[in-house]
Amino acid sequence: MNILIVGLGYVGMTTGLVLAEQGWKVTGLDVDKGKISSLRQGVLPFYEPGMDLLLTKHQKGGSIDFSSDPAEAIREHDAIFLCVGTPSAPDGSANLTYIRQAAQWIGEYGQDYKMVVVKSTVPVGTQECISSWILDSMKDPFPFDVVSNPEFLREGSALSDALHPDRIIIGSDNAKPVERLMNLYSKLDCPVFVTSPKNAEMIKYASNAFLATKISFINELARLCDKAGIQIDQIAQGIGLDPRIGGSFLKAGIGYGGSCFPKDVHALLHTAREQQIRLSIMEKVVEVNQTQYLVYLDKLEQRLTSLRGKTIAVLGLAFKPNTDDIREAPSLAIIRHLVEKQALIHVHDPAATLPEYLQSASVRQCATCEDALRGSDAVILCTEWMEYKTADWFNLRKLMRGTAFVDGRNVLDGKRLASWGYDYMGLANG
Ligand code: UDX
Repeated sequence: MNILIVGLGYVGMTTGLVLAEQGWKVTGLDVDKGKISSLRQGVLPFYEPGMDLLLTKHQKGGSIDFSSDPAEAIREHDAIFLCVGTPSAPDGSANLTYIRQAAQWIGEYGQDYKMVVVKSTVPVGTQECISSWILDSMKDPFPFDVVSNPEFLREGSALSDALHPDRIIIGSDNAKPVERLMNLYSKLDCPVFVTSPKNAEMIKYASNAFLATKISFINELARLCDKAGIQIDQIAQGIGLDPRIGGSFLKAGIGYGGSCFPKDVHALLHTAREQQIRLSIMEKVVEVNQTQYLVYLDKLEQRLTSLRGKTIAVLGLAFKPNTDDIREAPSLAIIRHLVEKQALIHVHDPAATLPEYLQSASVRQCATCEDALRGSDAVILCTEWMEYKTADWFNLRKLMRGTAFVDGRNVLDGKRLASWGYDYMGLANG
């Protein structure tokens, strides 16, 4: 089968390269002509470890190519992977504009059999909508299948997640496309779970919602442990030894961000509202996440008496390390809060850039961590980049005017920092 990937973001690029790595011939389609011409020159539109090397390898080997012409691309390919974005609409629902556009192209330009594989995260029932959008835009009838096949990769480790998945979920009521898809993935060594399209769609939302719940659970518990003098990481480790609980996604901090958890939890809440069901646990998960950074900032404000006129170094913009993605990053809420409090902010991130709407006389991005710390009254660590975890904090302190240190990810050795003169503040890690 020759493969077309529609939408060249994280999911599309990863899926395309992983399939190329398995020996398939892949074409990537995107309407953004600038993106296509950069990709043809081997330049990725985002930062993801290892992806540039794999792109160069498969471009040289001729197994991946790019196109911005939907008509030709759809005519020439029989397996079409939909990897377009499904951003949040203002009411929290998933915006399906790009999915619908891709389905209409398939209907319009398809001539013979197409297997349409939906990798994008889409609300329950979308597989049926895609089928009817294809049918509605068809000129001459041709056979097709729409299969749900959600993606579970994480940014920052996208390639290894996709090359070594925990599971492959295939949602289809038809045996033929399941067989075809299993053949495409035959070199991946993991359990394959075949279910209905609706179930597959819900598995993706339920996975992200459950992981977000674990994070908000540990974050809220950390608020209590902080007051009670209990170390939250020890609690996470202790409970995580129970295989029914599991140790992952129990790292307390300033909260989750990114392109998936916030959007997907909101989309699930929207689906629930449509069905007139209340998901009260998920509502609380959102509430805890949206207020978690304030717990850290309240500590800082109390310590400095006032944030007004203080210079604060914010280290880390990206929602997590090893990515330049700042979507829904807690750092942004922190910067907005500090601006409201009339602080001066020095931002640093090894890969991410301060968005234009936050740039002002009081917020500036610094080229180095040292520049950000110079003359600052306090530092807030928002993203646990290796650069910050291994920094020479003993000597860096000499650059600062003050000593306040907020560890928003509970990753540094507080006692050690305190012995070097910092006024260290984590959450429940004293
Ligand atoms: C997530 C899912 O993990 C992935 O399966 C899905 O396909 C897309 O959404 P991603 O958003 O790339 O992946 O990152 P992830 O590593 O899951 O982290 C999400 C957020 O949770 C980050 O802001 C991270 O800092 C935060 N987090 C994660 C915690 O605060 N504590 C934890 O213990 C784990």
